Amino acid sequence: MDEAEWLRYTATLHARPPMPDFNVRAMSESDRRALYRFIRALGPAGEPAPAYLPPGTEAPLPYVKWMLPAPPAAAPAAG
Ligand code: HEM
Repeated sequence: MDEAEWLRYTATLHARPPMPDFNVRAMSESDRRALYRFIRALGPAGEPAPAYLPPGTEAPLPYVKWMLPAPPAAAPAAG
């Protein structure tokens, strides 16, 4: 992407969890521009990240599993 494309892309970014896309959308244009220049200054891109897998598909190891705590037991109905 060129810088203008990156600014447009990150201003409306909607990605799958756990990507906090709302944080990138909330970033100022100057911060997103700075990110672009920093990342491009790192040189050529490395290997692509592994592709998204649909629900119920076992991912190849290693991966981080984010386990949510069980929801609190519902309070017994009054009366
Ligand atoms: C400054 C902070 C961050 C920036 C600027 C950023 C930027 C991005 C961008 C631009 C994409 C889309 C990539 C594409 O379309 O190929 C992306 C995807 C993703 N990011 Fe981030 N990210 C940030 C932080 C994080 C954090 C903290 C996490 C994890 C906790 C994360 C996890 C992911 C994941 C899982 C995807 C792929 C989402 C999908 O499959 O739709 N990112 N990120």
